[in-house]
Amino acid sequence: MKFLILSLTFLFLLSSCAQVGVVPSPTPEGEVQTPLPGETPTGTQTLVPEESQLPTPAVGEEIPLPPPVLKGEFTFEEVLKARRSVRDFKEKDLSLCQVGQLLWAAQGTTSPDGKRTAPSAGALYPLEVYYFFKDGWGHYNPEKHVLEILGKEDKRQDLTRASFKQSWIAEAPGVFVIVGFVERTAKKYGERAERYVILEAGHACQNLLLQAVALGLGGTSVGAFSDEEIKKILGIDALPLYVVPVGYPANP
Ligand SMILES: Cc1cc2nc3c(=O)[nH]c(=O)nc-3n(C[C@H](O)[C@H](O)[C@H](O)COP(=O)(O)O)c2cc1C
Repeated sequence: MKFLILSLTFLFLLSSCAQVGVVPSPTPEGEVQTPLPGETPTGTQTLVPEESQLPTPAVGEEIPLPPPVLKGEFTFEEVLKARRSVRDFKEKDLSLCQVGQLLWAAQGTTSPDGKRTAPSAGALYPLEVYYFFKDGWGHYNPEKHVLEILGKEDKRQDLTRASFKQSWIAEAPGVFVIVGFVERTAKKYGERAERYVILEAGHACQNLLLQAVALGLGGTSVGAFSDEEIKKILGIDALPLYVVPVGYPANP
């Protein structure tokens, strides 16, 4: 029975997002044509209500994310013009569609050979993105476009403490953390690797922030934190590069 419920939930979640003014026009059958990550637009998926929340996770579970939506309400130039750092958020959770879209913007795949939304020196992809929310936290797997749940605790207060008590971080409904594994890039680029990995985090973070604006959200690129504390929270030995709280702006 549990398996059946999980399967049905996954099937539902694998559908694509119905976002007002964001999705392509539906067909008469109520379906939209939206490509899966890394695919050309051919198949059709059922609409996912925009407000669907992330399911309560179990550790080790993979939460499938809806395919990214490739048309937005605003032009690229409007998004550029509107971006500002946002540190005051409404008490409103991000939807599954928004989380999937933001993760995809940061590091999602955009071609069958695994190339991504952000450029990467030698296509070596040293960045990893983690997502923290009230019910847990997880790692984004770009190839599968899933959130791999690593914990059920709300660690946003820990992120605030690690970021020298920038208290507003814990008030954001979603916090993204971008880290780099420099050794992946160093294999080819040696001493220039650290520079390249840091530059790449800038690309990924800007994608994430601009996507947030395009979805009517806002966020801030936070660079002031203790590397050691962030590594402890994540339980990994990588270079922490950005903490990015995202939510609905309290003062739009
Ligand atoms: C590398 C970097 C680190 C930053 N670190 C922080 C930070 O720790 N806390 C914060 O509130 N804002 C941080 N910011 C955001 C800047 O304060 C913000 O971009 C700047 O004030 C310009 O405002 P705007 O983003 O609204 O245009 C950082 C920005 C960058 C690029």
